[in-house]
Amino acid sequence: MSPRALVTGVTGQDGAYLCRHLLDRGYEVYGTYRRSASRNLWRLEELGAADDVQLVSLELLELTNILRTLEMVRPDEVYNLAAQSFVGLSFEQPIYTADVNGTSTLRILESIRTVLPACRFYQASTSEMFGKVQETPQRETTPFHPRSPYGVAKVSAHWMTVNYREAHGLFACSGILFNHESPLRGTEFVTRKVTSTLARMHASGAGLLELGNIDAMRDWGFAGDYVEAMHAMLRHDTADDFVIATGEAHSVGEVVVRAAVCLGWDPVWEGEGVKRRCLDRRTGRLLAQVNPAYYRPAEVDFILGDASKARRALGWAPRVSFEELVERMVRADCDRLAAGRPLL
Ligand code: NAP
Ligand code: GDD
Repeated sequence: MSPRALVTGVTGQDGAYLCRHLLDRGYEVYGTYRRSASRNLWRLEELGAADDVQLVSLELLELTNILRTLEMVRPDEVYNLAAQSFVGLSFEQPIYTADVNGTSTLRILESIRTVLPACRFYQASTSEMFGKVQETPQRETTPFHPRSPYGVAKVSAHWMTVNYREAHGLFACSGILFNHESPLRGTEFVTRKVTSTLARMHASGAGLLELGNIDAMRDWGFAGDYVEAMHAMLRHDTADDFVIATGEAHSVGEVVVRAAVCLGWDPVWEGEGVKRRCLDRRTGRLLAQVNPAYYRPAEVDFILGDASKARRALGWAPRVSFEELVERMVRADCDRLAAGRPLL
């Protein structure tokens, strides 16, 4: 019989890539989405997975909904990817974020313990838990210091996952993933904001990219590589926690430069502080500028991961480089525009 997986947050970036990965390995995949006026399956459609995933309506705030879903699907593996995943918004909606990202993980763990204790569980943890970093690079043993309601909620979910493993013997893993991007990334996240805005500016000859902290450094990988690590964690012989990262960091400003080069511009950042601007050297065209409205109340300045434990135990390593990642994202946005499709 095929193994059966339940993936929460199937309308999101990672949900789509993970479903594709599991379907390709013979899984029967159930994907959860939350009911809305219009269903949003464009990511699954782009990966050719929309017709093969069995869709289940699930609201993470509703415990009874989680219990009924587990009883109905009876999965071998649960991947909890659903979350309010935008760090910036968590400062405006801290209580909602704590409930969805923190307490909902507890709801799922308690439901698994009650109705399906042999089921394996993956929690989508994050490098945001390291926040104001206590050592560099960050590894599984690095103490947490989250810098946003999002990060705090994810720390709570992480420790709940560890606790259900230690206290109740669940096969529960926490994947501490550093930023991972793709052509399917939401346009509110900085990499896709850069590639979609610059692609639109390139096509139309007008517009301007406005950004917040362009000095923030992230360890950026490709989402398609990272979902392989999620699956490997649940297939490993023991439940454990793993950092997943590339081991290479780049600034937001570098993402702009790389994307602009892909579009044929010759970009250069000039100026100081909030006056910084990125120009095309050849034409003098203003491509990007800093707008303090995009600054966050507390920032994660520089994160860099050490994934050597995952490399050793799971045989996992990233394949797509930073340069190739940005190029793929720019190309996908240009192709969408050329085909008259919206940049969702
Ligand atoms: P994403 O694209 O924003 O997807 C989030 C998913 O969660 C969407 O399907 C969303 O549904 C769903 N969701 C949100 N609130 C929900 C609720 N109350 N009930 C049910 N579903 C809800 O995020 P992603 O980039 O794929 O990330 C997947 C997970 O990994 C998240 O938990 C994120 O925090 C974590 N993570 C991401 C990264 C990264 O760099 N991408 C790194 C570390 C950890 P709608 O489509 O209806 O909004
Ligand atoms: N979104 C956004 N928009 N970020 C900007 C902007 C802007 O206009 N200008 C500068 N930034 C900076 C942010 O301040 C942050 O330092 C960095 O760019 C990355 O921001 P995001 O792309 O929004 O990602 P994130 O690092 O905050 O969070 C993502 O990665 C986490 C893993 O570390 C999300 O996917 C989280 O869900 C994930 O846990």
